[in-house]
Parts: sequence; structure tokens; C-alpha cells
Amino acid sequence: MARPYYVTTPIYYVNDRPHIGHAYSTVAADVVSRYQRLRGNPTYFLTGLDEHGLKIERRAREEQLAPQDFVDRMAAPFRSAWEELDCAHDGFIRTTSAEHRQSVQAIWKMMKDRGDIYLDDYEDWYCVGCESFKTVKELLEGNLCAIHRTPVERIKERSYFFRLSNYTKPLLNHYEAHPDFVQPDARFNEVKSFVKEGLRDLSISRTSFRWGVPVLDDEEHVVYVWLDALTNYVSALGGPAPEGEAPLYDEFWTSAQTITHIVGKDILRFHAVYWPAFLLSAGVRVPSQIWAHGWLTVNGEKMSKSLGNFLPPGPLVEAFGADVLRYYLMREVGFGQDGDFSHRNLMARYNGELANGLGNLMNRIVASIVKRNLDGRVPSAGLDDLEDADRDLIDTAKAAAHEAAQHLEALAFHRALDTTWELVSAANKYVDSTEPWRLAKQGAKQRLEQVCYTVLETLRWLSIMLFPVMPNKCNELRGQIGMPPLLPTEGVDLWPSAWGGLRPGIETRAATPLFPRFDEAQERSILERLAVDSPGSDAK
Ligand code: MSP
Repeated sequence: MARPYYVTTPIYYVNDRPHIGHAYSTVAADVVSRYQRLRGNPTYFLTGLDEHGLKIERRAREEQLAPQDFVDRMAAPFRSAWEELDCAHDGFIRTTSAEHRQSVQAIWKMMKDRGDIYLDDYEDWYCVGCESFKTVKELLEGNLCAIHRTPVERIKERSYFFRLSNYTKPLLNHYEAHPDFVQPDARFNEVKSFVKEGLRDLSISRTSFRWGVPVLDDEEHVVYVWLDALTNYVSALGGPAPEGEAPLYDEFWTSAQTITHIVGKDILRFHAVYWPAFLLSAGVRVPSQIWAHGWLTVNGEKMSKSLGNFLPPGPLVEAFGADVLRYYLMREVGFGQDGDFSHRNLMARYNGELANGLGNLMNRIVASIVKRNLDGRVPSAGLDDLEDADRDLIDTAKAAAHEAAQHLEALAFHRALDTTWELVSAANKYVDSTEPWRLAKQGAKQRLEQVCYTVLETLRWLSIMLFPVMPNKCNELRGQIGMPPLLPTEGVDLWPSAWGGLRPGIETRAATPLFPRFDEAQERSILERLAVDSPGSDAK
């Protein structure tokens, strides 16, 4: 049965270049989409750019460019960052596209026809950094935005309003009926408390600048940039549209099994309160889940313009490769928690977990024992001759695959990797205790074959379980054990469940180590190249 899965990242403001925080959301969404594809589910992965609003208009002016020229120029680094990180999105939406503009106007009309839009005077505070209105309660002393710590602006103008106040009850009902609507739970509680206090109507148009989607039938106004931006999730699929007119929208929105929006914690309210309210008003289906991840600091410091420490992903990909960076991002910090990106921890995990753990397991068996003693071929091994140690490893593999799948379904990437690494460690311990080199020396051929087969088959399982996070390394690994690259196919579930898929007799192809260990000198030179202080003194 087809279970269409739609996963999205936030669309990024193009006022800055991509950094590791953006990469974090995008890699997470790519891992989700690769996992869903492996399970055979039709999957659509969307990312893109938020190109309107006052913030962008001002940045363009600073650069002395027309806004459209400015956003066109800034789009390229985002596209190439995701390509470098192997984030294989199906769609890349830009809010300045004509299709998007039509969708925004269509949603506006649907909300208006419902009687939820009216014209009034507006006076309040506005943070251009957040592109959001602020109540006095939300401000720091001196009228500063609590997120950006910059002064908010007083705005007084005629504006269209959305009757958000009418949606307090419907939203609370929706939350009640969908207890997983927001993840993690603690964040959901914050959202519920906010809504329970009662919602104020929301200003959804501006007249004091032009860089946005014109309001239908009143071109003096442009649509509020968040209403414009949130609509990207449906406009990218050709919606909102009557059934049959936009096949992608039918499949991945209206009748999708799951719609997951991955967002940072700072933009949860827009996604968990405003967006479902707009959709309820427009009579459009509401997404299944909003997943709010935490924020990353870099070597213990907040990334900020004033510190000039925005960490771009490019140089890290160059130094470590995309798969290693993806692995580190998904492994280091529990998804949903705040955490730190530390170059030194990345190096430690590389050497400890990838080189010494998985890489070592590969080398010991494929490049060494199998090559030297079994003619480089996958041996045959009967299930009847299993010993306890073999059975234990097989059971561990089955339990790990089952648990990792559950964690990936729940976007608990770090847990999925923990579980998978328990299998890597168990396999290394198995090699230590069964001592295949001794079996070879003793001429215990049958036992040697059984042991090697058990490890090779474990490696095959690992090549699937780790594929969503490290697609290239997993295909390299597969090549070395004589398996073809993984080719996810709709309707075919490739997740490992039955032991013994590796065919005896096929030739293994030991090649360069998957994760060559960095020695101290290499470590130092990489850190220097990345402009991180020498070991011992964390870059501050
Ligand atoms: N354009 C809006 C989103 C509109 S979605 C309909 C926006 N853009 S943004 O470029 O400012 O931020 C995009 C995402 O990057 C947010 O989810 C934000 O949480 C995330 N991050 C920005 N800095 C981050 C870190 N330091 N760490 C982790 N994620 C961070 O908001």
C-alpha cells in the first residue's frame, strides 16, 4: 500500500549565506526522505528560499541591487550547499516564482471568502529580524527583540487582519485530537499554553514597502511575509488546487499519509499556530507533524553577525566529506535538544566511531581475513551450524534494525545511530572473541567461513541501516562486500529483516579504507585549515 510521505525544511532567508544551522535542518530532512524511500514509500522532499520581506529588501538596498537581482544572486550558494551535502531534494521553491505568488493569492482568497480577513488600522512593535509583530510583554528592556537583541520598530499603518482569535478553540481541538502534532512534547506544551491564553487577530499585510506578493484586489498592500512563506509548502506542489488539477498536491498534501515540517524551535509558533489556523480557515488539510529541533552553538559560542562566526558547511565537507559531516550532525545532538557543534568532537567521533568502529570492522574482515584466507569471496554458511556467539550477533542485528527503524520513524536520529553503533561494537567484539585469524591458522575452515559470513552479512545490514545518514559511504561499503549500490524503489521495502541476503560465492572487493584514521599531525592541519585553535584549547 502506498503511503506518501512529505517532508520539508523551513525556507531560508536569503539575506545571509547558508550556515551549519541551515545545514542541520536540511540534512535531517534528507535523512527522513532517504529512510522513507528505503521503506518503499513515495516520498517528496522540499526545501527552498524565503525571498520576500523587509529584511531582504533592506539587504538588497545595502548591496545596491534590485531585490530580484539580489535574491537571484543569493539563491546559488544555497543550491550548491545542498548539492555538496548530498541533500537530494525533489523540489526547491523560491517565493519569488510566479506559481508561488498565485498560490499565496489563492489561499488569501479562500481565507477571505470564509470571512476571516478584514481591513483595520494597526499600531504595534515589529522586529525586522524575526519579520514578526511583538507584544510589549515579549520585549526586553529598552524595546529590544528577545531573539535578536536589536531595537524593534513602531509600526502604524492600515493593514488587513486575519481573525486568528476565532481559531483559539479549533486549534486547541486540533491539538487534542492529534497528540503528536508538535514534537518534542515539551515544545508542544509551550504552544498549547500560548494558545490557551487566547489569540489576537494577526496583521497580514503591509503598505510601507513593496517587496512581497501584492494583495488580491488591493495592490497597495503586500502580503505579510510569514503568510507568504508558509504557503510555500503547498505552492511547491501546485496547490491549493481542486482535485485532479495538481497531481503532486493531491498525492503529497491532500492524501499524504504523513506531512512532516522540520523547523527550528525559534519558528515553531508560526508553524504550529498560524499555519494550521490559515489552513483551517482556507478549508485545506493540516500537516501531520511539526518537528522543532534545537539550536546549535559553534565551539561553545552562539553564531552571530557581530562575532562573525557563521559556520558555512562547505569547508567542512571539503575536509571530512559530506557523509562524515552528516553523521556528526545527526549523532552529536539529540534531535529536539540544543547542542554544540565542536570541531574537536567531530574529529573524535570520526576517529573513534567511524575509523576505529565501522572502518576497522570492515578492514579486519574484508581487507584482511576474507582476502587472505577465503580467496576474497563470500563464504557459504549454513544456519544449522550456528554457535551461540553467531546467534547472539544475529539477534543483536535484528533487534538493532527493528529499533533503529522505530527511531528513524520518530526522527530520533541520534538514537537510531546509538542503536546502530551497538551493533557495530557487538560485531567488533564478536571478531575479537571468535578470533578468525586463529581459526585460519588452525585450518578450521568451516568455522572460519561461518564467522566471516556472519560479519559480512552484518556489514550488509549496516550498509542499509546507515544509508539514510551516509549514502555514499554505504554504497562504497556495499561495493567492497560485493553488493550493488542501494536503489530505493517505490513499493519495495529494503529495510533488513531476513538474515542471509548475502549470496555465497560473490567476490568482495577490498579497496581503500572507508574511514582512514587521522593521526595527530593530520588532525592539527585540518583544524588549522578550518581556523580552529590547536588541540587542547577550544576555539572561543
Ligand atoms: N524564512 C524563515 C522560515 C520560513 S519557513 C516557512 C526563517 N529563515 S532562517 O533562514 O532565518 O532560518 C531557517 C532555519 O534555520 C530555522 O529553522 C532556524 O531555526 C534555523 N537555524 C538558524 N540558526 C540555527 C542554529 N544556530 N542552529 C540550528 N538551527 C538554526 O526563519
